[in-house]
Amino acid sequence: MISEALQKARDFEAQYGPHIPDKERPAFHITPTIGWMNDPNGFSVYKGEYHLFYQYHPYSCEWGPMHWGHVKTKDFIRWERLPAALAPDQEKYDTNGCFSGGALELPDGRQLLMYTGVRRVRSEDGALQEIQTQCVAIGDGLDYEKYDGNPVLAAGDLPEGGSALDFRDPKIWRDADGSYLAAIGNRTADTSGAVLLYRSADGLHWTLEREIDACRNQYGKMWECPDYFPLDGRQVLIVSPQEMTPIGLEFHAGNGTVCLIGDESEDGRFVRQNVQAIDYGIDFYAPQTLLTPDGRRVMIGWMQNWNTVGGKPRQCRWFGQMSIPRELTVKNGRLYQLPVRELDNYRGPCVSHHNIPVSGEVNLPGIQGRVLDMTVTVRPIGHDSYRWFRIHLAKDGQHDTVVRYRPEEGTVKIDRTRSGLPWDIVHTRSFFVGNREGEIKLRIVMDRFSLEVFVNDGEQAASAVIYTEQSADAITFEAGGSALMDVEKYDLLFD
Ligand code: FRU
Repeated sequence: MISEALQKARDFEAQYGPHIPDKERPAFHITPTIGWMNDPNGFSVYKGEYHLFYQYHPYSCEWGPMHWGHVKTKDFIRWERLPAALAPDQEKYDTNGCFSGGALELPDGRQLLMYTGVRRVRSEDGALQEIQTQCVAIGDGLDYEKYDGNPVLAAGDLPEGGSALDFRDPKIWRDADGSYLAAIGNRTADTSGAVLLYRSADGLHWTLEREIDACRNQYGKMWECPDYFPLDGRQVLIVSPQEMTPIGLEFHAGNGTVCLIGDESEDGRFVRQNVQAIDYGIDFYAPQTLLTPDGRRVMIGWMQNWNTVGGKPRQCRWFGQMSIPRELTVKNGRLYQLPVRELDNYRGPCVSHHNIPVSGEVNLPGIQGRVLDMTVTVRPIGHDSYRWFRIHLAKDGQHDTVVRYRPEEGTVKIDRTRSGLPWDIVHTRSFFVGNREGEIKLRIVMDRFSLEVFVNDGEQAASAVIYTEQSADAITFEAGGSALMDVEKYDLLFD
């Protein structure tokens, strides 16, 4: 049964979504049909296609009572819009929002969604509190029926000291024995986050198995949007901590994204070894992964951050983009990320320049554009070896977005100060990439309103949203000192 609230959202998006011209959206990054989008939800395989749901408020470009928007794809690049999947319509458990969650395919061919139902209640002292419980809905890839027995997990299912006000974002998957697992964020008595693991035989009845890991006030506070999976012989826990403070050049994004890499002990406990940021740019949060049928672990994130969502263009009709889906690997205890290989299918002819000396600023024939995949390799040359190297993108007389490398510091900086954002808040982010004798490889994927930088074959990734006019499409290269450079650029073509 489609509720009145869901029908209203579907009618609204069907009426107004088509008014947004394709050219006013990214060419291949997901945006909401209309209105506001935040976290990716339910990123999963269903009947041979990849489905993605998202936190959605169709009625304005502001966060509001959360719905689930819905898209699907066969190749992670071309997405098909589907009608909104969930609306906050149940007085008993989700009247104030259907928050983030996961999805999976049931053995009988139906699709199971698990999400956080939010209900605001006034406590005795007059404060408004959000009660968060876990709920399920089952459907056919288009329409979903909320389960009569919702909520399936509530305050009584928490470990001692766990907060019912911060209990959210179930990520679900099927275990090898056919049962289901859910990793869920929670706040513990020490006021910081933890990830809890629940198990179910049927997807409807869940019991607490154990705590996977806890923040203990070391990496931010509440841990939102967890994900937990094996990768390359290691075990990976992904969390998005609120109130993240920096450690050196790590964890600067405000709301952080953190990857904890470790192993599982014989009794199934997660033993954490390395901790790193997932994305070192300005706009990235709440990522989720899926496992493709050919065995790749692919991650998608919200290409925004709560700390920068105030910087939106006036009169926008959509707000919020997803990152490009990224293939993950673990090498030497670090997480590597590269754009899904399916992106290669959209490359036009290659424009390449090799062994170009750069000293001062140069531009090169055929190197410009806003929807492209470009790899720049830089190395030192001569006596006056370069001290900094800049790539100016989305450039015209007044604008540019700069990616800068300083070999001695071993840092890369993204600077979008002149990228069409309405306010002069902090628009730069620096991160450590190591010093390989002054050599660096920067792969930059641009899509009209964003750039994503993949450093040294994916050892670091950094994302930033930009709003520069599309006519600003020049690209130049500049070095302080002497550098030698190779460039390979492909326009990404969509008819
Ligand atoms: C993360 C988050 C989630 C929550 C959702 C609400 O960005 O705060 O924890 O489920 O957004 O929209």
